[in-house]
Formats: sequence, structure tokens, C-alpha cells
Amino acid sequence: MNAITKLFGIRYPIVQAGMVWCSGWKLAAAVSEAGGLGLIGAGSMYPEVLRTHIRKCREATNQPFGVNVPLLYPDIAGLMKVIVDEGVRIVFTSAGNPATWTGVLKEQGLTVVHVVSNSKFAVKAEHAGVDAVVAEGFEAGGHNGREETTTMCLIPIVSAAVNIPVIAAGGIASGKAMLAALALGAGGVQVGSAFAVAAESSAHEAFKQKIVEAAEGDTRLSMKKLVPVRLLQNDFAAAVNDAEARGAGREELVELLGKARAKRGMFEGDIEEGELEIGQVAASLHEIKPAAQIVRDIWSGFLEARRRLCVLSQ
Ligand SMILES: Cc1cc2nc3c(=O)[nH]c(=O)nc-3n(C[C@H](O)[C@H](O)[C@H](O)COP(=O)(O)O)c2cc1C
Repeated sequence: MNAITKLFGIRYPIVQAGMVWCSGWKLAAAVSEAGGLGLIGAGSMYPEVLRTHIRKCREATNQPFGVNVPLLYPDIAGLMKVIVDEGVRIVFTSAGNPATWTGVLKEQGLTVVHVVSNSKFAVKAEHAGVDAVVAEGFEAGGHNGREETTTMCLIPIVSAAVNIPVIAAGGIASGKAMLAALALGAGGVQVGSAFAVAAESSAHEAFKQKIVEAAEGDTRLSMKKLVPVRLLQNDFAAAVNDAEARGAGREELVELLGKARAKRGMFEGDIEEGELEIGQVAASLHEIKPAAQIVRDIWSGFLEARRRLCVLSQ
């Protein structure tokens, strides 16, 4: 038991990240059943769709699970109402000001965690009253910090800046990486990319296939003038790279992105023209596995890596 397993009432301090178009009830329930914390990614759901996912998740597992809400979503109030109505106990917020919703959720007795990519926002989140922060490094898939601080540098900085538990995210897909994150000061890990390719992920099979074929250098942090996001390289990403090299401004990037680009890529499987979000760690993912096996592999890898280090120090 540690601060993170106690906070959520789970067996292993392994959180499956909320991920648009990937983490519906099937993935969240499978991870929670396996002893981690599954999160439903509400960022790609209308409020009533989220309600259905919450209900299905609860039918599939009696273990704790939570919901991730990116605060740049247009109808936050609608999502939050569903979350509270349905009796969800854990919320992870991201991509916005932690002061806006934390108080409201805490008043309802929920456990609240906020995702940050620097120590300034970690302190802000602590002041807003969150129970823990996720510190997400530059390697991570999805939306990302402008400072480009890697997980290795970020975790000690954030751990020193706050007095609440820190969950490390970005580049963690193995037990060895989890051990490193805990050595740096984290109490648990949030794993995204590795679960995006889980069998239960709702990502399109063509996207999963492109992830397991990805090599080093195949992802790049793009669109820093808009909302920085790590993209798997394809025709769309190449167009973004060209535009950025020409010095394209915000408006041009908004137009290039258009509407529903992420859905098109990650959910509908248009792997050239769609937006494909994934982390650098994709280069070490080579197969599509059930979520429970991913949890087991990370945990057993963690124990094995820790044992080896102990032997070394004797
Ligand atoms: C496909 C994909 C979609 C994501 N969508 C979200 C999201 O909706 N909300 C959020 O807070 N983070 C999102 N992220 C970031 C993850 O929550 C997580 O912090 C990150 O993936 C961790 O780094 P890793 O990919 O190296 O494991 C997404 C990541 C990926 C790969």
C-alpha cells in the first residue's frame, strides 16, 4: 500500500490514462478489474454518451474507476453534471485551470487529480485543493506542455514543489520505467500510449497497427502555437510540419486542423489524413495485448527490476 493505492482504493499504483477515442468503459473496466485504476476519457464524449459509459463500466466491474475531463472541452458543466449524478468518485482534470472545478467536485466528496506539465501549475493545483497531481513529461502522447520538460526532469521538480502525491506520466510502459518514476519521487504512474494499443482500447485497429510499427523519431511535438500535441508522423503531420516551418500562425493551424481530425485518425482509422496522438514510448510497443496483461506485465516488471537493484546493492 502507498499513498496512491490508498487514495483510490486500488491494488497497484498504475493509472490507465484518460484518452480521447481510446479509453471507453471497456478499457477502463478491464484495467480496474486487473487492479489498476481505469479512467473513462470524457474528452471525446457528449455528456449522454459519458453517462452510458459510466453505467456500462459499473456493470462490468465493482472496482474503483474514474473519469478524465480535459477542461478545454466545450460543455464541461454538462460532463460534470453527469459525473456527479452518476456517483463517480474519482475525476482527473487536465488542460485547463484547476481552480475552476476542483472546489465544486470536492464539495461533492469526489477525489480530484489534476494533470500538469510544470511545477507552477502543480502548486496552483495543490492550492485549488486537488488530492494529487499527474506530472506529465515531454515524451507523453496527447496534449503536452510548452516547456518540453522530460519526465526524468519533471518528476523530481514537481515532487519537491508540492506536498501532495505525484503520479508520473510520459514514457512509462514498463515496470522498469515505473521503478524509475517511483525512485524520482512519484507515488504511482499514469500510462497512456501502452493502453491505447490494448485489445480493449476503442482506437481503430489501423491506428493500433501503426503504433506497434512505430520507431524512434516517429512522433513529434507539434502545434505549439495552438495546443501542443505529440503526433505520430503521417501526411497530416507532414502538412503541419511544413506549415510550422513556414512560420504559420494560429489561424492557419486552426484551419489545417479542421474539424474532427482526431476522431478521423484515431477512431475511424484514416491513418494518413487523421490526427494520431501517441507518445515517444510507442517505439517500444510491439504487440496488442489485453489490458489485464499490460497491468500484470508492468507490475511484475516493476518487482523484478526492484529485486535486481536490491541484489546490486548488497
Ligand atoms: C491517444 C491519446 C489520447 C489522449 N487523450 C487525453 C485526454 O483526453 N485527456 C488527457 O488528460 N490526456 C490525454 N492523453 C495523455 C494521457 O492521458 C497520458 O498522460 C499520456 O499518454 C502519458 O504518456 P504516455 O503516452 O507516454 O504513456 C492522451 C494520450 C494519448 C496517447
